[in-house]
Amino acid sequence: MCILDKWPILVLLIGSTVICQEYDYAEYDTGTDALPEHEFLAPQPSEYVDPQIFYTNECASECFCPPAYPFAMYCDHRKLKAIPGIPRHIRHLYIQFNDIEEITVKPFANSTSLREINLSHNKLKSALVERGVFAKLSDLIELHLEHNDLEEVPPSLPKTIQRLYMGFNRISKVSADTMKGLSSISILDLCNNRLTDAGVKGKILSGMKNLQQITMCGNKLKSMPSDLPTSVLQLSLENNSIASIPEGYFRKTPHLMSIRLSYNKLKSVPYTVFNLSNLMELNLGHNQLSRAFFIPKTLEHLYINHNDFKDVNVSLMCPSLDQNDANKLTYIRLDNNMLKGHVDYYVYRCFPQIQIIFYGEQMKVDTLPKKPEKPMMKRKNEVNKAFEKEDY
Ligand SMILES: *[C@@H]1O[C@H](CO)[C@@H](O)[C@H](O)[C@H]1NC(C)=O
Ligand SMILES: *[C@@H]1O[C@H](CO)[C@@H](O)[C@H](O)[C@H]1NC(C)=O
Ligand SMILES: *[C@@H]1O[C@H](CO)[C@@H](O)[C@H](O)[C@H]1NC(C)=O
Ligand SMILES: *[C@@H]1O[C@H](CO)[C@@H](O)[C@H](O)[C@H]1NC(C)=O
Ligand SMILES: *[C@@H]1O[C@H](CO)[C@@H](O)[C@H](O)[C@H]1NC(C)=O
Repeated sequence: MCILDKWPILVLLIGSTVICQEYDYAEYDTGTDALPEHEFLAPQPSEYVDPQIFYTNECASECFCPPAYPFAMYCDHRKLKAIPGIPRHIRHLYIQFNDIEEITVKPFANSTSLREINLSHNKLKSALVERGVFAKLSDLIELHLEHNDLEEVPPSLPKTIQRLYMGFNRISKVSADTMKGLSSISILDLCNNRLTDAGVKGKILSGMKNLQQITMCGNKLKSMPSDLPTSVLQLSLENNSIASIPEGYFRKTPHLMSIRLSYNKLKSVPYTVFNLSNLMELNLGHNQLSRAFFIPKTLEHLYINHNDFKDVNVSLMCPSLDQNDANKLTYIRLDNNMLKGHVDYYVYRCFPQIQIIFYGEQMKVDTLPKKPEKPMMKRKNEVNKAFEKEDY
């Protein structure tokens, strides 16, 4: 569940930069035909390159090829057990939600134009994926294989591939050989598999010089993956069993904008480990943290809910004030810790842009009276009132 469109906050925050750049680039790259499903637009002039190709109406009998969108073949939701023959001109193959177990070379025999294949929600088994079946697809950019029964990333993927979705399979190990040379990958989704620390050991990821988004949520990792490439912008590791982050771990990935580590087993983190100069979103909810850490200037959203904080030491989060280059934090989520009383008002001086401190319910300490704390949420206007009252 951690594919690109599941990054709502990030999309909001940096929608006009990273994500759209990614899509713009992709659309430029795939021609003007990267359209959403069931939205058939007239082909753009660039599609008329080869008149013979354009006027073909070849389509597998099991599938639907919309005349207005002649480069796509729709074979989804048809209880298919096999991939039908793919006509030469098809660039987008949508064959998700079927009962396909096997991928053989045969249906791809004439297929030289494929850019996108959606084989998600099938019954694919690694043992039935013919060796090198994707290797000859030299224009392939996007491959959806999520929600299948795969035990490995298919070997011999073409080097052109940019977006690879492998979530909800049974992958326990990623081999360096398979990933070697996939230098165009920008999005790699391995969420909800069975990856262990040993399964991602070695030089698996660092060869992907363009990798921007890596999601390995919902696996069995106990430590942070070693070997992230420098290019990474978004790292998603929720729902693992990660117990620690090594000192200086993120030094190799200075461009990170978003780190998601909720639902892990972190008890503490090195004080300055998140001192990254582009970090905007940090989610550490549902861990066992109790000690504040350094908050970088760029951070906008911080989630430390469902942890073991007894207090929030704002001086630790924000050791110095710089009026000319103020901290950008706008949102902190603090509910379900063991906090007593309100947060130090110093928080509003350190983080002048703060809009919401979500305090919510506090738990776990039996001796605490069970009455709700004052405001559940402080909004900007309350913040201002607080300033006046406290004479800040
Ligand atoms: C491909 O499959 C994914 C996952 O099932 C789905 O979210 C996506 O909308 C599909 N894409 C198209 C264009 O059908
Ligand atoms: C490939 O093209 C040839 C010649 O047009 C045709 O006979 C054959 O059936 C095609 N194969 C597939 C898998 O579509
Ligand atoms: C993590 O697990 C929680 C609880 O099981 C679930 O609600 C959440 O959707 C999961 N998140 C991800 C990213 O897998
Ligand atoms: C955070 O990083 C900046 C830039 O690398 C550095 O100047 C600053 O001293 C660091 N802050 C802390 C608290 O380590
Ligand atoms: C915050 O932490 C610092 C350093 O550990 C300590 O000196 C200070 O007393 C703490 N402040 C509060 C309010 O607990």
